[in-house]
Amino acid sequence: MVTVHLHPGQTPAQFIAAGDALTHAWRCHQVKVVSPRRGVVVVTAIARDPLAKVGGWSSAPPARLLAATLGKADDGSYWTVDLRKSPHWLITGATQSGKSTLVAAWLTELGSQPVVLVGIDLKGGMELGLYERRLSALATDRQGAMRILTALVAELMARMSVCREAGARSIWDLPETERPAPVVLFVDEIAELYLAASLTGRKEAVECSTLLLRVAQLGAALGVHLILAGQRFGHDLGPGATAIRAQLGGRVCHRVHDEQTAVMTLGDLAPDAVVVAQSITEHEQGVAVTAVDGQWKRVRSRLVAPDFLRSHGELTADQVSAPFLRPVVEGGGTND
Ligand SMILES: Nc1ncnc2c1ncn2[C@@H]1O[C@H](COP(=O)(O)OP(=O)(O)OP(=O)(O)O)[C@@H](O)[C@H]1O
Ligand SMILES: [Mg+2]
Repeated sequence: MVTVHLHPGQTPAQFIAAGDALTHAWRCHQVKVVSPRRGVVVVTAIARDPLAKVGGWSSAPPARLLAATLGKADDGSYWTVDLRKSPHWLITGATQSGKSTLVAAWLTELGSQPVVLVGIDLKGGMELGLYERRLSALATDRQGAMRILTALVAELMARMSVCREAGARSIWDLPETERPAPVVLFVDEIAELYLAASLTGRKEAVECSTLLLRVAQLGAALGVHLILAGQRFGHDLGPGATAIRAQLGGRVCHRVHDEQTAVMTLGDLAPDAVVVAQSITEHEQGVAVTAVDGQWKRVRSRLVAPDFLRSHGELTADQVSAPFLRPVVEGGGTND
């Protein structure tokens, strides 16, 4: 790593432009150039790809509530996401690119925390079904999804009036004894929620997208978080998709088939990251580009085995109180 103090007239752009040439000249994995402050450029040469294999988990940083260590970043550091800092996330990627594996890593990390976990898996529950024991509710069809979303909106209204009465601007301003448990809703294959063939299906889809948007808008301050995963994310999903994207400040883009999905996932937050995401190959399953707060980096989730998921958990759903989901569970079609 070299810190360069620029001469008058020099700009970081000249160094950034030389990055590729240096990578070849030095025969290393990558040369990264960043400018942390005016007049200074830091050039980092990385010998091998730290994401080639993501292992060694014993020294992961300790989690705080709603924080999860999901894998490694390409500078060798841990990749940690804190939902209190970035409340809602969009995860995209082609089939077999690593979306569900990332969701599994996330569920595993949050699974040991006093957090209500809820799933909508419209691929018949194949992916999130593994985690049924820990999920307070799991919907596998659109009607079930609507019941969950309706219950979440009602819970948000209740939380809003609790906060209003207490003069709090978010649940985190409430005294700990009165604070409701955070809720994280995972959706695997978001497009299934938005697209429908029949007329009634389309009506339901519109209703789902309205409810989801409401959850996103209110949830950030009230401790209800969204993690939405899908193969494609484009304008064809309707205006609801663009509206929800604006609420999802955290993004993860795995290998994608179409440019539009990469642009929709990263383009508005980190335009330079779009080409980087498109250069992820089929052999790099789990590798992704993540963008949050105007920063982006290459990351790889850790691989969690399904067996581990099935048996995992010092906590089960029953140990995390979620009375507002009772009507959903009793309504049928979901986990009970
Ligand atoms: N972080 C990772 N490290 C190593 N291998 C991985 C990683 N993520 C995924 N894989 C491999 O890729 C395979 C497919 O991953 P995954 O099921 O997560 O893809 P997906 O994006 O959910 O696909 P689909 O859209 O078909 O559901 C996994 O079974 C695993 O073998
Ligand atoms: Mg999947």
